[in-house]
Amino acid sequence: MAILDKHKILETNATLLLVCSFLVVTIGGLVQIAPLFWLENTIEKVEGMRPYTPLELAGRDVYIREGCYTCHSQMIRPMRDEVERYGHYSLAAESMYDRPHQWGSKRTGPDLARVGGRYSDEWHVDHLRNPQAVVPESIMPKYGFLENARIDGKYIGDLMAANAMLGTPYTDDMLASAQADFKVQADPDGDYDGLLERYGDSVSVRNFDGQPGVSEADALIAYLQMLGTLVDFSTFTPDANR
Ligand code: HEC
Repeated sequence: MAILDKHKILETNATLLLVCSFLVVTIGGLVQIAPLFWLENTIEKVEGMRPYTPLELAGRDVYIREGCYTCHSQMIRPMRDEVERYGHYSLAAESMYDRPHQWGSKRTGPDLARVGGRYSDEWHVDHLRNPQAVVPESIMPKYGFLENARIDGKYIGDLMAANAMLGTPYTDDMLASAQADFKVQADPDGDYDGLLERYGDSVSVRNFDGQPGVSEADALIAYLQMLGTLVDFSTFTPDANR
C-alpha cells in the first residue's frame, strides 16, 4: 500500500523520524496543556470547605510527624469498589487546604479520607493506644504516648500564618485567636462561640481523648474526626458550579 511505503521513508531516516516525532508530541502536548491556561479554575468550588481549625491543623501535623501516611492514603478513587467501601470519591477541593496533601498511594491500612464520624472518639483512643485490642489482626503500631504529650498551641499561629501566606484563607481574626481557639476546641465547658463564629458550626468541640488538658491525641482525633465530613454529598452535584 502506498501510504505504508511512504512510512518506510520515515522509518529509515533517523533525523526525519525524530523531527516528525517531535512534531507529534508537540501537538499532543499543546492539546493537553494549553486549555489549562484559559480555564479559570481547575478545582471545582464546593460548598462546605473551610480551613482547618488550629487544633485540627496541629493534629494534622502529628499525623505527618508520625508517618501515618506511610500506611494510609487519603484519596478515594472514583472506582466502584472504593466508593462502596469508603464513600464518595475524593474531590480536588477537599484537599485544597492541605499543604502538603496527604493523598498517598500506600495502603497497608485503609484509606482515611472519610474516616471522620465513622467511629466514636473512645474508639479512636482505644485504637491509638492499642490497635490490636480493637482489631486483633491489625499490624498498626501503638500510639498511646500521644495521650501523654501535652501541647499548648503556642506556635500554631505561626503554622497558620505560613499556610495563609500560601493561600489558605485564614483571616487576621483567626490568626489572632489561634491559641485560644486551639485550647477551647478540646474543652466543651469553655467559651467556644468565637471558634464556631470563625470556622462555622461544623466544628466539633469535645474532649476528644477524655482527659483534662490538650494532648496530641486530642489534636489527632479532632483531625481524624473531621476528615471527609465537610462536603454534604446529599446536595452535591458534580457540575453545579460550571
Ligand atoms: C504500619 C502501618 C500503619 C501505620 C504506620 C499506621 N496505621 Fe493506621 N492502620 C493500619 C492498619 C493495618 C489498619 C487496619 C486495622 C486496624 O483497624 O487497626 C489501620 C487502621 C486505622 C484506622 C481505622 C480505619 C478504618 O476505616 O477502620 C485509623 C483511624 C488509623 N489506622 C489511623 C492511623 C493514624 C492516625 C496513624 C498515625 C498516628 C496510623 N494509623 C498509622 C496500619 C497502620
